[in-house]
Amino acid sequence: MIHPHNKYKEAWDILVIIATLYIAVETPLWLIFDYEQVGIIGVLAIIMPLIFLADLLVCFKTGYFSPTGKYIADTQKVAKQYLRTWFFIDALSIIPFDLIAEYYTQTYLQQLAFAEPSTFVWVLKLLALVRLLRLLHIFGIVRRWMQHDFMSPNMIRLGFVIFWLSIVAHWIACGWVALGMINPALPNFDNYLRALYWCVTTLTTIGYGDITPTTNIQIIYTMMVQMIGAAAYGYLIGNLASLLTNIDVAKANFRDKMGKVENFVRFHHVPKSIQEEIHNYYQYLWENRRGFSDSDILEELPHSLKLKIALYLNKDVIEKVPLFKHANRQLISQIALHLQPAIYLPGEYIFKAGDYGEEMYFISHGSVEVISPDEKTIMAILHEGDYFGEIALLNRSERTASVRASEFCDIYYLERKTLEKVVKQFPNFVQELKDMANKREKKI
Ligand code: CMP
Repeated sequence: MIHPHNKYKEAWDILVIIATLYIAVETPLWLIFDYEQVGIIGVLAIIMPLIFLADLLVCFKTGYFSPTGKYIADTQKVAKQYLRTWFFIDALSIIPFDLIAEYYTQTYLQQLAFAEPSTFVWVLKLLALVRLLRLLHIFGIVRRWMQHDFMSPNMIRLGFVIFWLSIVAHWIACGWVALGMINPALPNFDNYLRALYWCVTTLTTIGYGDITPTTNIQIIYTMMVQMIGAAAYGYLIGNLASLLTNIDVAKANFRDKMGKVENFVRFHHVPKSIQEEIHNYYQYLWENRRGFSDSDILEELPHSLKLKIALYLNKDVIEKVPLFKHANRQLISQIALHLQPAIYLPGEYIFKAGDYGEEMYFISHGSVEVISPDEKTIMAILHEGDYFGEIALLNRSERTASVRASEFCDIYYLERKTLEKVVKQFPNFVQELKDMANKREKKI
């Protein structure tokens, strides 16, 4: 069984989408201009049904997710599900109606026909349009893409709207040619271009009136296209603004927040140097955390998901801190769930000697200086993967030294109550912490 998220399957889906698009564009053109499928178009006319046939077989071998989220890879269930959903459309799209129509008109088969050759050929040709239904597959594929994070969902939505508008405009233009708006003196391309021009000006409600309907059916067609145009126009204008602003929601929110902060500091005439510091802080926050504080988002999730995300988000710091190297998984999970992120600016004190200690800290990025209580000597410089603040927590005492960020620091802290829980459950781990605390205390 093939997993639907398998990367080869995804590449295959893209190939099938391209083939479907080609069919969606080419079939109506071939219907209205009735050209002979020779050269590259002839080759493609043979290849396309083969791709669709292969896709049909692939679909029989691709597992799916039930509405409850369960992955189903049972051959029989997969086949049943496929037969119930896409099989019929997919099977019809394999039949090369265009090739049959072409051979039919050219060969002796004509003599065997039970109907007038031209009527039969037209029925065959119209049946080729069934393939366009394959385009509906794209909805499912786009939904799957929106769940992946390679592009913003709003960007995909916008692309999807533009895609459908272009395809529909193409079909309407082909319909216009089919209704007789064709100048035999002009090549096919010129005729198509004029029809597309009429379609775009009508759909966008511009309608210059330089190409106008003459027969009744053309007038009815024009009215229908005008109505589609008005509806699509209203929908687009209504949604485009929100689609565009929401393309990068995180960035839009962040910009909004920065704007408010900047207005605030300007209004209160905060000195330029502090303004610059605030700006740098937000810049750092954006570049490193996309403007989000992890905990807000985690709060709403069920426990198991929260744990998975916490482990993933805190992977960096957990991997960097040697103390966690040999710790068991349960301990890591406990800690990952309770680590809180914080950012410190260059020169900022994280705490001062003599403060009462409520947290211990792990450095994810940047470095800090441990400064003696008399503020005269730098006793140590701690870097990525180091930790500090454990002495006051373990001894329930005051901070033995001051700690100051020497550059922008991404730090994770653990609160006293979490550490106390860990102390009870994992005595070995705490022994390691205590050993380090003793060593450090001796130096003081
Ligand atoms: P705490 O006393 O809670 O607050 C100050 C912290 O600085 C202390 O815990 C240790 O984690 C850390 N610290 C103190 N002395 C040293 C040292 N010599 N080398 C590295 N870190 C130290």
